[in-house]
Amino acid sequence: MSAPAIVATEVSRTYDLDGVSVPALRGVSLTIDQGDYVAIVGTSGSGKSTLMHLLGGLDRPTAGTLVIGGRDVATLSPPEMAKLRNEVIGFVFQSFHLLARTTARDNVALPLVYRGVGRRERRARAAELLERVGLGHRIDHRPNQMSGGEQQRVAIARALVTGPSVLLADEPTGNLDSVTGQSVLDLLESLNAEGVAVVLVTHDAEVADRARRRIVMRDGLIVSADPVPSAAVPPASGPRAADLPASGSPAPGSGSPGGGS
Ligand SMILES: Nc1ncnc2c1ncn2[C@@H]1O[C@H](COP(=O)(O)OP(=O)(O)OP(=O)(O)O)[C@@H](O)[C@H]1O
Ligand SMILES: [Mg+2]
Repeated sequence: MSAPAIVATEVSRTYDLDGVSVPALRGVSLTIDQGDYVAIVGTSGSGKSTLMHLLGGLDRPTAGTLVIGGRDVATLSPPEMAKLRNEVIGFVFQSFHLLARTTARDNVALPLVYRGVGRRERRARAAELLERVGLGHRIDHRPNQMSGGEQQRVAIARALVTGPSVLLADEPTGNLDSVTGQSVLDLLESLNAEGVAVVLVTHDAEVADRARRRIVMRDGLIVSADPVPSAAVPPASGPRAADLPASGSPAPGSGSPGGGS
């Protein structure tokens, strides 16, 4: 089997706010395999976005080891990190982060500029990706002329234009109605079927149930990491003991980590 896409070992991330330290992650271990399909759930403030930013190489842990695409990020300079990100990761932000005055095509083409791809090829590849996400008819529209779902799909096209092996999506369906959300999910699943590892954060139990594995976070820790029994795609392997807290003991009071529903 090929090497994992991302391996986080006992990673912590503490934010420093005017001398007060805020421990957002408190020792999380997680392996994302090639072709994986993982849903991360947990209450607001439990550290999901912080973890996603680390997995995507947008931030560095304050402690622990993080290996992305076989490279230990602690050994990389900021430009080397940026290059690794551009090669391995596609990141979809909850709030899209599109350039408002720039067409869909140029938004999608932007990561290729950093790669030194020529203009003609950039434009062709951006158009191809927009076609893929069902926006062939919106290529020259700007984000402020598009619906939320369309903007989300532009953001996904942009994340995919570099051909990443891992797609990280923070609440990709959070702002969408159920039909549009469904089409975004279908798109992520077809990419996954082509071998792209997909990691998504969601508050929606139905969305989480479609993934192959579900990671539950609470207070900066992973409190459970299970294959999803009813997943649309069957698990590649059994339970992932490696993704449970090192101590094997979940956070206090976590009788039913899946919560409610
Ligand atoms: N830049 C920052 N500076 C200081 N504290 C931060 C920063 N970003 C996040 N935090 C804190 O870290 C903790 C985890 O935040 P994070 O954004 O990872 O939560 P989350 O699980 O993504 O929540 P949500 O579901 O609301 O998006 C929170 O207590 C938050 O207040
Ligand atoms: Mg968040």
